[in-house]
Order: sequence, then structure tokens, then C-alpha cells
Amino acid sequence: MNSAIVGCGGIAHVHADALRQMDGVNLCAFADIKPERAEEFVTQFGNENSHAYQSFEEMLEKEQIDVLHICTPHYLHVPMAIAALEKGINVFMEKPPALSMDQLSELDRVKGNAALGVCFQNRYNASVRQVKSLLDSGEAGKVLGARAFVTWHREAPYYTESGWRGSIATEGGGVLINQSIHTLDLLKHFLGMPEKIEGTVINHHLKGVIEVEDTAEAYLLYPDKVALFYATTAFCTDSPVMVELVCEKMTIRMEETKLTITEKGKPSKEMDFSVPANSVGKAYWGNGHMACIVDYYDCLRNNRRFPITIESAGETLRLMRGIYESYNRKAPVVL
Ligand SMILES: NC(=O)c1ccc[n+]([C@@H]2O[C@H](COP(=O)([O-])OP(=O)(O)OC[C@H]3O[C@@H](n4cnc5c(N)ncnc54)[C@H](O)[C@@H]3O)[C@@H](O)[C@H]2O)c1
Repeated sequence: MNSAIVGCGGIAHVHADALRQMDGVNLCAFADIKPERAEEFVTQFGNENSHAYQSFEEMLEKEQIDVLHICTPHYLHVPMAIAALEKGINVFMEKPPALSMDQLSELDRVKGNAALGVCFQNRYNASVRQVKSLLDSGEAGKVLGARAFVTWHREAPYYTESGWRGSIATEGGGVLINQSIHTLDLLKHFLGMPEKIEGTVINHHLKGVIEVEDTAEAYLLYPDKVALFYATTAFCTDSPVMVELVCEKMTIRMEETKLTITEKGKPSKEMDFSVPANSVGKAYWGNGHMACIVDYYDCLRNNRRFPITIESAGETLRLMRGIYESYNRKAPVVL
């Protein structure tokens, strides 16, 4: 399959490295408005027939692409996906799926059979799969309540040097749409959609530097339980993301790759699903990129539906936008 990447920045390295390790994938083209980045990708990940482009449109025009990986700033995801899908090119898109529900709905106008997959790779982490299996098998019993914490550290240069982060127009929000959307996605993956969501957002530590929030909290109301969510980039370090599920038969605490399972009246059981040696990217991105990308390609080859469809990722976007909406309206949002 001929694969191309648009946006040759931080996360694109993880995509390219995964693709380089996969059989039957030819990394044919790379595009970035900073041409030296696309050229560096040709050198590092391409072959003698790979090409670098400064223009995304020119790359689509000149190359025969089967799969496009979109690794650009948030505001470009939907227009780039539409341009590719309309040409019949399959798209594997970094999160978030869109800036807003309105922007997401622009994808409805695309006709044809090309497949769009969204990269919520943490669903593929071994620890996450284990939790999901404990829930789906009934082993854990009914979930009675959940809490999730993302406490990370981002300083001013992370925003000011990127050219797009920290701005509503190009990033679409702060810690919610960027760093912690994965954890909201996991809450939804484990518990499904809540009936209502209520939340707040605030900028504590980068006032005057970013126009988006650095901290958010939310209360997710289900018919039979409540889930609590807290995310910030104002902490002193990137602590492991923590998700805890209190269930009828056990309490499951996930701290990134580690699980602690406590069944009533028994000593806690520790399980460690540490990142394998060949995995790529920063530890806090999770270790699921490779598995997620491999599954996306496997779905394409075997005509199977990739599970992280635009509908599924769109629900997570709805959850996330619900927090902003509830904060603006000072009321819970019915989902
Ligand atoms: N799944 C994850 O865990 C994870 C982790 C990090 C980033 N991301 C996502 O990946 C995306 C990119 O993030 P990043 O941290 O790599 O950002 P980045 O700024 O490092 O890279 C973005 C690249 O896109 C290029 N670009 C901008 N406009 C372009 C255009 N019109 N045409 C072609 N190239 C263009 C930039 O020059 C830059 O090289 C974002 O959606 C981000 O949320 C996902």
C-alpha cells in the first residue's frame, strides 16, 4: 500500500516509524509547509522513490496514495480529510476528529467508499484492553463509579513555539481537546455515553500566553453512576494518567501501563503492561500507536470495519464539547 503523511512534526515520527516496521507499506510521500521537515522524513523514513512536498494539495495531485496519515494541527484535520476522501484515499487521522460538532458534520457531505479512522490509540494499550475485558466479561461486575485524572506539565514555549497551540482558532481549546481527550475517550470506551455532562474550564498558569484552558473538570452523569474527570497542564510533571473504576466485584485502578485490581477481602493484584522495547514516541502518548495503525491497515486489507470510526470518535468530541458548552451556559448539557 502507498502511504503518505501530511504534517511532519512530533507525532508524525511515531506514525512513520510504525509504518516503516510494517510489511507491505510503501511510504511514498511526505508533506509539510516547512519543506525541510518533509525532506528529513524522506531521508529518515522513506526510500529512493519517496517524495517531499511543501504543498499538501500538490502531493494529493501527483501521488497515487492509498492511505493518508493526517498529523497536522487540529483545524486542518477535517478539510484535509475531505480533500483526501473525495479522491478515494483512505484516511487515518490524528485526534481530535474535528474542532467542533459543526466542523465534524462537514464530513457528512463526503461520498464514496474510502475509510476514515481516528487515532485514539490508547484504546489499544494492553492495560486498557485488560480493563475492557474485565468489564465486558462481567468479571468486574457493574461499574458503580469512576474517576480519571490527567495531571501534566506544559510550559509557555510548548505553545508559543508551535505556531498553532494555545489558540482557539487553530487548536480549538487547550488541555481538554488536546492532552486529555484520550482519557475522556477511555471513560466513554469503558462506560459508554453519559446522559448529562457538566464541567468547567480555566487557565491557571499561562494567563496572557494562551487563550485556551490549562485545566478542566467534569461531572459525567449516568442513570446508575457518576464519573469524575480532572485534567490540567499546570502540574509540575507528566504524572501517569489514572483511571479508577469502582465495580461491584472489584476496584480497578489503571495508571498508564499498570493495573491494580482489588477484589473484596483479597490482597490487591498488580499487573504491569510496560511499553515493549520497539515502541516509539513519548511514554505519556501511550503505547498503542503501533497496534492501532496495524489494526487500521488490517481492516483495510480484510474489508473489516475499523472500530474507531468517525461516529465513535465523534461521540468523544461531543462529550468534550459538552464540557465547554456547559461551562459557557453554566448548566449541565444533555447528551
Ligand atoms: N495521539 C497522540 O497521542 C498524539 C500525541 C501528540 C500529538 N497528537 C496530535 O497530532 C497532531 C499534530 O501534533 P504535533 O504535536 O505533531 O504537532 P507539530 O506542530 O509538532 O506538527 C505539526 C506539523 O504540521 C505542519 N503543518 C502545519 N500546517 C500544515 C499544512 N497546511 N500543510 C502541511 N503541513 C502543515 C507543521 O509545519 C508541523 O510540522 C495534532 O492533532 C495533535 O493533537 C496526537
